[in-house]
This record gives sequence, structure tokens and C-alpha cells, in this order.
Amino acid sequence: MSPTLQCLSGRNAVVVGASSGINLGVARRLGSLGAKVAIVSRSSERIGAAADVLRADGLEVTHHAGDVREAAAMQTIMTEVANEKGPIDIVLSGAAGNFFVPAAKMSPNAFKTVIDIDLIGTFNVLSAAYPHLKRPGAALVNITAPQATRAMPMQAHACAAKAGIEMLTRCLALEWGVEGIRVNAVSPGPIADTEGLARLATDADLADRIRGALALPHFGQCIDIGNAVAWLCSDAASFVTGTTIDCDGGMRLGNLYAPQ
Ligand code: COA
Ligand code: NAP
Repeated sequence: MSPTLQCLSGRNAVVVGASSGINLGVARRLGSLGAKVAIVSRSSERIGAAADVLRADGLEVTHHAGDVREAAAMQTIMTEVANEKGPIDIVLSGAAGNFFVPAAKMSPNAFKTVIDIDLIGTFNVLSAAYPHLKRPGAALVNITAPQATRAMPMQAHACAAKAGIEMLTRCLALEWGVEGIRVNAVSPGPIADTEGLARLATDADLADRIRGALALPHFGQCIDIGNAVAWLCSDAASFVTGTTIDCDGGMRLGNLYAPQ
């Protein structure tokens, strides 16, 4: 690996929701750019297996099991990371849960579950990290989704949760900017070979329709999101805060004339 590409060299990063998919791809990208990465998810088995994969790729990784719905668990993990490696430079909050269900059939607990994981979980992660952040210089990134700004059927819970995350991103950017802490979000479009896409593109026809409605008519890759997050966390984005980067192939443009 070229030393000229080590733009996050020695940075202390925590990636939450990283046992699979996009966030695992983000952890891999941050690590490949030189960051020391701690990865977190609910299942100790899944997060341990993900850490083994990253270590086999030569990356410096620790792993921690905890549920983002439990504020105390997040506080324990952030304290452990800071005690072991020093002030935290980078936090990626991306744990989420999702499923297709019409609002009329959604139980209150189904709605609450997604709000708890996505929105309250994001607050729990960032507020747990806050006392341990490098000041000035820390960069926090939340993973949101096109659902934050585009209403979608059978996605009332995820739309509400992701919209909340985008506003939380802006509020924390405003409050914490004075301490030299930047807070941004990345909104992925449909990303190939992920659980999130599998849950929304439930058959090949639907997958084709979603792909055809993008300005760039192909699904993204996890590394596309890793690159966007890495840029936001790098010195190249040192004057960027409170924004959402749409890394979505143009999904938000809502192509009304997409071929069916
Ligand atoms: N349709 C309708 N309701 C559903 C549902 C579905 N497909 N899946 C779960 N629910 C409801 C449950 O019935 C329950 O409500 P109830 O108590 O009124 O019956 C509520 O949601 C909580 O379900 P539970 O299985 O207890 O939640 P959990 O905390 O164990 O798991 C999920 C959370 C449901 C989000 C689970 O799918 C998950 O862990 N997802 C993580 C992976 C993922 O979603 N990846 C994509 C990210 S975009
Ligand atoms: P994924 O592979 O299912 O990733 C979700 C991760 O969150 C897993 O590591 C899961 O690990 C963890 N997680 C879930 N609930 C948790 C909890 N309560 N506490 C801690 N960790 C928890 O899904 P993905 O598709 O890659 O999605 C990743 C992110 O991208 C999500 O924020 C999603 O909304 C967003 N996104 C995805 C797409 C897409 O096309 N896939 C598009 C737009 C946005 P454990 O099961 O081990 O806990």
C-alpha cells in the first residue's frame, strides 16, 4: 500500500454497526488509509468474525459487542477504546434495522424498534463518544439514507428515523463545532450485496426498477461509501460540517421517466 495514501494514519476510529455490509466496508476503507479501527455491533460472534476478516487483510482492528439501544453499553465501549488508544478522532454511526411493512400493519413496537436502533442509537453512540473526542479535530459521520428526504411506501419507520438522524447531524454540528468537532452524514443509495438492499429489493424485477431509476444505472459498492466517509474524516474536509453527502447514484433525483 502506498504511504502517500495513508491520509488517516494513526487516527483512532470507532465504526458502529460494522459486522457486515456498508459499515464493514467503511471500517476496511478507514483502516486501509491508516486508521486504527475499533468495530462494534450487537453480536459478539458476528463482530469477532468481521474483525478476523479485517485483520487477515493486514488492518489494525479491535472489536466490541454492544447494542446501540443501550446507552451504558456504548459508554463502556467508548471508554475502553479511549483508555486503550487515546482520544477518539473518528466515529461512524451506522447501525440500523429495516423491513418492509405498510404503516397500517406496523405495530407500535415495530415502529419504535427502528427508531430506537437508528435514531436513538445514533444519539447514544455520539453522546457516548463525546467526552472522549479529540478536540479540535474529531470527525463524526452518521449513515442516513434517501428515505430521510424522500417518502417511501412501507418505510414510515425508516423514513422518520433517517430524517431524524439528518437533523441530529445538523444540531450536533452546530453545538459541537466550537470545540473543533465536525459532524456530517453520508446517504448511500442502493449498495450491491448488502442486507439493506436485499430487504428492499425483494425480487429481481424490483431490483431492476430501482437500478433503472438511478441517474447512474448501477448499484453502488461498499467502497463508494467508504470513500465518502474517508473524505469527510480527512483534513481535506476540515471546513465541512452539518451536511449530508448523497452517495446515491442520483437516487434522490427521482427519475419519473425511468423505464418500468
Ligand atoms: N414486518 C413487520 N413487523 C416486523 C418485522 C417485519 N418484517 N420484523 C420485525 N417486526 C416487528 C416485530 O413483530 C416486533 O413488533 P411486535 O413486538 O409488535 O411483534 C418488532 O418489530 C421488533 O421485532 P424484534 O424481532 O423483536 O426486534 P429485534 O430487536 O430482535 O430486531 C430488527 C430488530 C427487527 C430490525 C431485525 O430485523 C434486525 O436485527 N435487523 C438488523 C439488520 C438489518 O435490518 N439490516 C438492514 C439495515 S438497513
Ligand atoms: P447490515 O449489513 O445489516 O448492517 C447493519 C449493521 O448494524 C450490522 O453490523 C448489525 O450487526 C448492526 N446492528 C443492527 N442493530 C444493531 C444494534 N441494535 N446495535 C448495534 N449494532 C446493530 O446492513 P447494510 O445494508 O450494510 O446497512 C448499513 C447502513 O447503511 C445502515 O445504516 C443502513 O440504513 C444504511 N443504508 C444502506 C443502504 C443499502 O443499500 N444497503 C442504502 C442506504 C442506507 P449485528 O447484527 O451484529 O448487530
